[in-house]
Order: sequence, then structure tokens, then C-alpha cells
Amino acid sequence: MKVSRICLGTMSFGNSAEWMIEIDAAKPIMKRALDLGINFFDTADVYSNGRSEEIVGELLKPVRSEVVIATKVRGKMANWPNGEGLSRKHIMWQIRESLKRLGLDYVDLYQIHRWDYETPIGETLLALNDLVVDGRVRYIGASSMFAWQFAKALYTSDLLKISRFVSMQNHYSLAYREEEREMIPLCRDQNIGTIPFSPLARGFLSGKYKRGDTPSSARYKSDPLLPERFFRPEDFDVAERTEQVAKEKGVSPSTVALSWLLRKGITSPIIGATKIQHIEEAVASVELKLSEDDMKRLEEPYRLHPIIGHN
Ligand SMILES: NC(=O)c1ccc[n+]([C@@H]2O[C@H](COP(=O)([O-])OP(=O)(O)OC[C@H]3O[C@@H](n4cnc5c(N)ncnc54)[C@H](OP(=O)(O)O)[C@@H]3O)[C@@H](O)[C@H]2O)c1
Repeated sequence: MKVSRICLGTMSFGNSAEWMIEIDAAKPIMKRALDLGINFFDTADVYSNGRSEEIVGELLKPVRSEVVIATKVRGKMANWPNGEGLSRKHIMWQIRESLKRLGLDYVDLYQIHRWDYETPIGETLLALNDLVVDGRVRYIGASSMFAWQFAKALYTSDLLKISRFVSMQNHYSLAYREEEREMIPLCRDQNIGTIPFSPLARGFLSGKYKRGDTPSSARYKSDPLLPERFFRPEDFDVAERTEQVAKEKGVSPSTVALSWLLRKGITSPIIGATKIQHIEEAVASVELKLSEDDMKRLEEPYRLHPIIGHN
């Protein structure tokens, strides 16, 4: 399955936080993405409790066959005992609900949204394989976990001779590079597509946040993971270096940060957008040339981060 070098993530489409946008504002962004050649769209059942899937389905229905639609399962969708997780029961319930919300009869990429410590991975994989066989799912993928868990999932599929995960949606950007230790080499070895989320560190790398300022953006105020994960002095060193390289090249810091990922061999970063300009600056990253020296300078200020986002 072929995907564009940029994937449009749609956690920003919905209504569960102040920084998100509803369908009227999402529509021109989606249209611009399609016009610029983006064919790959990511959502999840949990985004705004299903509203993101509804928006994505409605906006992409006219071009359904041309595009690749990815969604996810595992998060809590109800308070009852099987209302979350990766058991066969939850997966079979949520694929039906996701397809209903999307208004579609299949999804192209169905991803597990983290590891489930309470369900044997073989049970999860057999349930997912049934969805591939019955046609409701084309391919299966995974998101954020420890590399040993992903390796275990891959060898379990091989032992059972069933569908394997084809992609890893992990957390990776100039401001969070811990995935370079284990997960990315594993994906390379196993020929797994890498489709990292938050490639701009939730906007931290876009140049809009300045050292010493009190941020006033809606996302800063209503996305607690943004201030919690970034904003250390050493993170600002990375953001400022990105801005410096961007200034020299006459492009935006976002374009540089995404181009760095592409040049690292990433299949397709999953970007977040709340404005048309965000899509345009993302697509510009595909053509931007970064030299070996640019890459070294961008990477040089990075300091280790604690592992975030696996559980
Ligand atoms: N698998 C997972 O667990 C997981 C976790 C998180 C996200 N995701 C996926 O990844 C997607 C992207 O996540 P993300 O939103 O955190 O990604 P991101 O690309 O790191 O951040 C997007 C934010 O950056 C800002 N931005 C983007 N382009 C910009 C530009 N050119 N100039 C200035 N600001 C710009 C916008 O902030 P403002 O809106 O403040 O302007 C936007 O909301 C999600 O939609 C979702 O599909 C998956």
C-alpha cells in the first residue's frame, strides 16, 4: 500500500478540547491536503470520543478509493469491563463502531493504540487477522510500545502464519529521539513503515514558542501533554537551532523539522494541522534539501529525554 510522504493526522478534528476544530474548519484543510497530493489520513476511535472519525469519514467519502484511511483501537470507549483493550471482544465491537462512525465498509490500516498488558498478543493478532480475512481491514499496524513488545508481536504473527503489523506509529521528532535506540532499527530490519506522531512536538518545534515567554496558544492551554513533554531549557536549544536553520533556508521551522525526519528515512510523519498553512508548510518539507552539515547542526543540541508515551 503506497502512502504520501506526509500523513495528515486528525486528532485536531473534533471537540474534546479547546484547541480542536470542527468540520467547517477541517473541510478546507482536508481539501488542501488532497489537492497537494496527500493520500494518507490518520484518526482513532478515542479522538473526541469518535467525532474525529465521523469528520474524516464524511470529508473523505467522495474520494474513498483513492485514499488510505488509518484508525486505531485500544483506548477506553466505555466504562464497562470490556470497554477498552485489545481483547477479541473489544476489537470486534470497536471495528463495527469505527466503521459506523466513518460511514465506510473497510479501513486501510487498523492500528493497535499501545500494548495491552492484560491480553495475550496472540489473541489480539488472531482477532486482527480475522478482520483482514473478512475484508473490514486491509493492513494492520501498531503504535508506541517498547521494541521488545513489537518484536514479540512480529514473531508471534510469523509463528501463527497470520498478518503481520506493517507500520509503527511512534513518537519521534527532533525534540524526542529516544526511538533511535531500539524501535527504529527494529523497524528498518523488519521492513516496517515508520509513521511517527507529533513530528513537530505538538507545535513546540514550529517556532511559535519562545524561551521565557508565557505561551498563550489554545493548544498550550488545553493540551496538557505539550507543556509536560517539552519546554525544558535543552528543548529550547533544539527549537532555536531549528529556527536558525529555517531562517538560513528561507522556510519555516516546521518545514525544517519535518524535512529532518524524512531525511532520517521515515516513511511518512503524521502531522497535526489546524490551519491550511500548516499543510502547505508540511508538504514543502518533501522538497527541502538538508545537507549533512544541516543534519548535524539540527541534531547537536538534543539531550536525552525520559521515555514517554509507551504505556
Ligand atoms: N498514536 C498516538 O498515540 C498519537 C499521539 C498523538 C498524536 N497522534 C497522531 O499524530 C497526529 C499529529 O499529532 P500532533 O498534532 O501532536 O502533531 P504535530 O505535528 O507535532 O503538532 C501539530 C501542531 O503544531 C502546530 N503546527 C503545525 N504546523 C504548523 C506550522 N506550519 N506553523 C505553526 N504551527 C504549526 C499546530 O499547533 P496549533 O494548533 O497550536 O496552531 C498543530 O496543532 C495526530 O493528529 C494524530 O493523528 C497519535
